[in-house]
Amino acid sequence: MTIGPFYPVLRPLDQDGDLTVVNGIATGARGQIVDLAGRVLKPDGTPAAGARVEIWQANAAGRYAHPADMSGVPLDPGFQGFGVQLADAEGRYRFRTVKPGAYRIPDGRVRTPHIHFDVQGRTSRIVSQMFVPGEPLNASDFLLKASEAPDTLIARKLQPPPGTADILALEWDIVLVAA
Ligand SMILES: [Fe+2]
Repeated sequence: MTIGPFYPVLRPLDQDGDLTVVNGIATGARGQIVDLAGRVLKPDGTPAAGARVEIWQANAAGRYAHPADMSGVPLDPGFQGFGVQLADAEGRYRFRTVKPGAYRIPDGRVRTPHIHFDVQGRTSRIVSQMFVPGEPLNASDFLLKASEAPDTLIARKLQPPPGTADILALEWDIVLVAA
């Protein structure tokens, strides 16, 4: 998929894997907490250790912290909106974020909730979007429908850890086209 119009112009100083907390802001991000994890793999199924995983997304109300987002929907100062992690020796990455809101693009079409990914291995790179399972708007999202393999873009919902029933636990693996 393409990078799209909302890749950060100015990445935040706080770029860690927890998008629900911004350095220096007392209140956490609004919205449903998402525990998002998965693996980055090479085409042969072995881990892409050290792959760089960037994500960026709209806040829970569907607003990007980007000058091209003219929706008028409020920003959330407690939401980081962008994060970077390096996959570990087993190819694993993990982010804590919030469920992105759906948003309307200028031509009137509505984007279903999604998280943008830019994944860089040693010699290859994949830009994609990850979708949330069970979202009613998935059926009408023009980019998800245009995908050759939409099922591969929808994360798996996992059982949340005990005592955290309000957290949405998602798993999404990424296979690079080369190492
Ligand atoms: Fe988007």
